[in-house]
Amino acid sequence: MEESQDIRPDFATAAGMCLDGRYVDAFEACIKAFGGEPDSPALLDLGLQTLVLRIMVAAPEAHVEALAGRWIAGCRFGNPDIAEVILTDAFRDDPQAYDFFGNFAALSVRLGRGDSAVRLFSHCLGPELPARIERHAIEEKYRDGLDTYDEVFLHDMAVDRFLAFLSPRLEPDGNLDIVDACCGTGLAAPHLRPLARTLAGIDLSASMLERARRRDLYDSLTVGDVVAELEGRVADLVVCCGAANYFRDLAPLGRAVFQCLRPGGLFAFSDFPAPDGVMITTGGSLRYCRGRRTVRDMMSRIGMEEVGCDLGVMYGLPCYLWMFRRPGAAP
Ligand SMILES: C[S@@+](CC[C@H](N)C(=O)[O-])C[C@H]1O[C@@H](n2cnc3c(N)ncnc32)[C@H](O)[C@@H]1O
Repeated sequence: MEESQDIRPDFATAAGMCLDGRYVDAFEACIKAFGGEPDSPALLDLGLQTLVLRIMVAAPEAHVEALAGRWIAGCRFGNPDIAEVILTDAFRDDPQAYDFFGNFAALSVRLGRGDSAVRLFSHCLGPELPARIERHAIEEKYRDGLDTYDEVFLHDMAVDRFLAFLSPRLEPDGNLDIVDACCGTGLAAPHLRPLARTLAGIDLSASMLERARRRDLYDSLTVGDVVAELEGRVADLVVCCGAANYFRDLAPLGRAVFQCLRPGGLFAFSDFPAPDGVMITTGGSLRYCRGRRTVRDMMSRIGMEEVGCDLGVMYGLPCYLWMFRRPGAAP
């Protein structure tokens, strides 16, 4: 107890630097606090380790590997595998460790350590699934966050990551009928419009859709539940960025998409990972998360063929990026 109190001034200094936007100084202050001694109490300080991970997750791509190397050397862990074992052992039973494991998992994605990322993120998950996330709770959440939604850089970064997965897999012929399912404020619309013959948006939240309308990039915008509102539509591409986590069972959405896609049409979506089956986050926003095999089996039962699956960082967490195709040649 005494020992962990000793490092609080170091933590306060590093956290203060972060708040001032001095991330490099904050990183250096953390490394200094770790002290390079195997018995340094700072090594197993949850707040300090979470802070240093958060800085690495937000760092520019070109610096991530070097920063991670300095962190591992500064803590004398030896290598990332040992860091994972020591820190998981130290924090797995700590009820405050959600942010720590989320950031460690995201860093692991950035270091190309996908299996490790999914394993670490599993410590952010539990098996007791709520029957559903209520529609009014979703509407309320987005109404409350509306004014700042487009300013949160994590939202922009998520859409950029999604588009970096999507774009190379599409013909840039500008001739697709596209549905932006759960389109929110339409952050993806500027990227989708040049690919589209028609662009339709669907979302539960009338207030989010009102923001999307101001972009003047959609041919139509519909307020409603995406599964119901897909019925009767015809599309070449359906995208669903950042919303699969609201669905305990993704099969109704998968079937609705299958029905509306032309042969050869594509469905691209993001989905948070679980080791297997369906699990729920135990901190942060409530999110249903799914195993890769679970998604593959479900989509294959619906009749969709897999085109690609990546693991990226979205909303500061690891996230699968999926693309499936309705079999058949495009007419
Ligand atoms: C994180 S936002 C993502 C918005 C947008 N796709 C983007 O990437 O910026 C999730 C959106 O999903 C919408 N949503 C959640 N469940 C939905 C459902 N069943 N039907 C339609 N929209 C839904 C929410 O209202 C919210 O606007």
